[in-house]
Amino acid sequence: MEEAGEKDPGKQTSVRLFREPSTSLRSAVVPALEKPRVPSSPAPAPGRADLDRHWLGRAIELAEAGRGRVEPNPVVGAVVLDREGRKAGEGWHAAFGGPHAEVIALRAAGPRARGGTLYVSLEPCAHQGKTPPCTGAILEAGVARVVAALADPNPVAGGGAAILARAGIPTEVGVHPDEAALARRQNAPFVKLVTRGLPFVTLKWAMTLDGKIASVAGDSRFISGEAARRRVHEMRDLTCAVLSGIGTVLADDPWLTTRLDDRDGRTALRVVIDSSARLPLGSRLVSTAALGPVLVATTLAAPEERVAALRARGVLVEPFGPGPEVDLEALLRALARRPPRAVANLLVEGGGRVHAAFVEAGLADRVAVFVAPKLLGGAEAMTPVEGRGFARLAEALKVASLRATPVGEDWLLEGEIESASPGGEGGLCTTEVDSRR
Ligand SMILES: NC(=O)c1ccc[n+]([C@@H]2O[C@H](COP(=O)([O-])OP(=O)(O)OC[C@H]3O[C@@H](n4cnc5c(N)ncnc54)[C@H](OP(=O)(O)O)[C@@H]3O)[C@@H](O)[C@H]2O)c1
Repeated sequence: MEEAGEKDPGKQTSVRLFREPSTSLRSAVVPALEKPRVPSSPAPAPGRADLDRHWLGRAIELAEAGRGRVEPNPVVGAVVLDREGRKAGEGWHAAFGGPHAEVIALRAAGPRARGGTLYVSLEPCAHQGKTPPCTGAILEAGVARVVAALADPNPVAGGGAAILARAGIPTEVGVHPDEAALARRQNAPFVKLVTRGLPFVTLKWAMTLDGKIASVAGDSRFISGEAARRRVHEMRDLTCAVLSGIGTVLADDPWLTTRLDDRDGRTALRVVIDSSARLPLGSRLVSTAALGPVLVATTLAAPEERVAALRARGVLVEPFGPGPEVDLEALLRALARRPPRAVANLLVEGGGRVHAAFVEAGLADRVAVFVAPKLLGGAEAMTPVEGRGFARLAEALKVASLRATPVGEDWLLEGEIESASPGGEGGLCTTEVDSRR
């Protein structure tokens, strides 16, 4: 799988440590990956650490190609060098239940892997899941050394490095801090899922420059332009589940499907939080339930006849708590365990009340905000995060690593919420996340 025009850094006198990604580093679901820092000039001769960082960077870059298709598994990329240090093969985990990145890269390398080096963005698994453990394939291929950017946080699948080391293969895991941080950010949803038993939550909204998500009359279609709306469909395509509140559904009657012009998108699980099961039977969500699952998260207080009517139309209805409102944490924990594929990431396209509920419960990890160059005004017009609010500025949630990207006539602001709560007890999610493991 040699890439046309790619230089082999082992043959260069000076090495550019990181190439621009050939695959886009998709930021819809996880924090955008920043380009790793390149040491200042003069460029060092390519020592082993520099080469290791270069190839780990490539493995991390390759991993992105699996985003949106492998979850709840982690995205993983791998590169195999032959014993002379030339690239012999590379690959990535491309599909849930499909072969792991290491196996694909080793297959691509064939006999050239013997005596070579395997670089992988996440510690190879030692677990029999839907596929055999990668450690077996690595031992069989006869590589002489393994370098992984990040230790596997999954308690069920970890331990691959120790097995390899016991078999006499020098194995380095997480020794390069920049690459370890990059790999951790890349797999933030997976890390959160296996360590806390919760999905990684992105709050997404479109607002005017004066911070309104709807007019005083409740009109919000369309605040952002066409390019931004297309970007939302790309986000949904990479997401396990999309969630909205019943307030938004009643106001806008959204489809919440993925509609892309140039390819088939994946319609994520669509979730509505709706304490009293008010979702209209004639709504677009109900009428498209056959196209992809719609889950109405309700409460035990929801009228039985409403629940029955929705179920009769193919809508999934599940209670989360006694009421009066849906117990969000219970819902998220259930999504994180949902068979057959756990929800690793959740895109919340709520109204202001739903966003406030996520923020107040410390359940949001990230924001993706489209800002339209418009002024709407209106003291009563809805803002993106309603609720009680924090009384003091010192209590405000901080958003880190804010990035601004022009999208058509709008701007997309993305960042991570710094003080996202650990979400209580761990509740490890292990059974569903076993395809890669
Ligand atoms: N510009 C944008 O990006 C954008 C996006 C979405 C919506 N909007 C606009 O926002 C407006 C709707 O916002 P909204 O705040 O009224 O509705 P919302 O946030 O979509 O839904 C709020 C409702 O969800 C239900 N709910 C159930 N459990 C909840 C919980 N734990 N926490 C919070 N809510 C819970 C409650 O109704 P029950 O008690 O009946 O269950 C609550 O009233 C519309 O005008 C829409 O056009 C704009």
